[in-house]
Amino acid sequence: MNAFLREIPKAELHLHLEGTLEPELMFAIAQRNGISLPFASIEAAKNAYQFTDLQSFLDIYYAGTNALQTERDFYELTKAYLEKAVRQNLRHVEIFFDPQTHTDRGIEFKTVLNGIDRALTDAKTEFGISSNLILCFLRHLSADAAMETLEQAISYRDKIVAVGLDSSELGHPPKKFKTVFDRARREGFLTVAHAGEEGPSEYIWQALDLLKVSRIDHGVRCLEDEKLVYRLRRDRIPLTVCPLSNIKLRVFESIEQHNLKQLLDRGLCVTVNSDDPAYFGGYVLENFEAVQTRLNLSRADIVQLAKNSFIASFLPDDIQQTYLEEIDAFVASVSEIA
Ligand code: HPA
Ligand code: ZN
Repeated sequence: MNAFLREIPKAELHLHLEGTLEPELMFAIAQRNGISLPFASIEAAKNAYQFTDLQSFLDIYYAGTNALQTERDFYELTKAYLEKAVRQNLRHVEIFFDPQTHTDRGIEFKTVLNGIDRALTDAKTEFGISSNLILCFLRHLSADAAMETLEQAISYRDKIVAVGLDSSELGHPPKKFKTVFDRARREGFLTVAHAGEEGPSEYIWQALDLLKVSRIDHGVRCLEDEKLVYRLRRDRIPLTVCPLSNIKLRVFESIEQHNLKQLLDRGLCVTVNSDDPAYFGGYVLENFEAVQTRLNLSRADIVQLAKNSFIASFLPDDIQQTYLEEIDAFVASVSEIA
């Protein structure tokens, strides 16, 4: 089954670029830039990755990002992730980045964007993997700060497909950003939002009704509200679920307790993603392996999850269709062997 999981074509739709910073690269970049990190060694960093909730993770995650200073740093970070993604047969990725984490430290927006964009372009040429960029606003900061960030993004409109909302969820409901998202949509950006990870199902309603999102990031708490499940199913609103992240941040106690299979069985468009793989113990393939083995997913479930990853993407319909056909051809080819 491992070979099947690795080889089936997949897309990843919930991935924070800053969350792909492996400790080895963090230390190499920090040393090059003369930055001191709050960890004594690579081992100490790894040992510090013990989280009790979202905030305890975010504190460490933001500390690690301080290493990143130059366009080259953002290039190397992005390229390293894409190389791993290609090895797991990801064909397409939609990547979140958090510009405020960097601009608030005096790094220019264009330094971040140009480094990332150059790596995405090179990876497309070298490995054939396609990508979209999603700018996330930090929801613990003000709506005014988000609006300033949106204004900076407008000149890069052709390089950013959507805007999203991440960071500390509780106490920062989607409605805080309604005006910013209205403006973003007028400027031609699609919208997504983290909602229903630690926050209540009410935040998912707000993301749908006020921010007009195309997808919900996480959304696992939707099962607490029957009407919401109906709405998500009726409107085919995908959920970008991150199983290993949910365990590390104690949204669920164990993979066995995770509701991914229930979400699928309720007819929701569920996808499997890694969130912050350098911190949560695995990339997309490891997330697939965890849910396949520990939730007893069938091969049909896996095929559905892989198909959903393209259906839920912001790829044009004809390209989505090509990938769906490729998945069918792949499944047929392995069934002949088996
Ligand atoms: N949730 C909210 N904000 C984040 C996350 C997450 O899982 N990862 C990085 N920023
Ligand atoms: Zn996330």
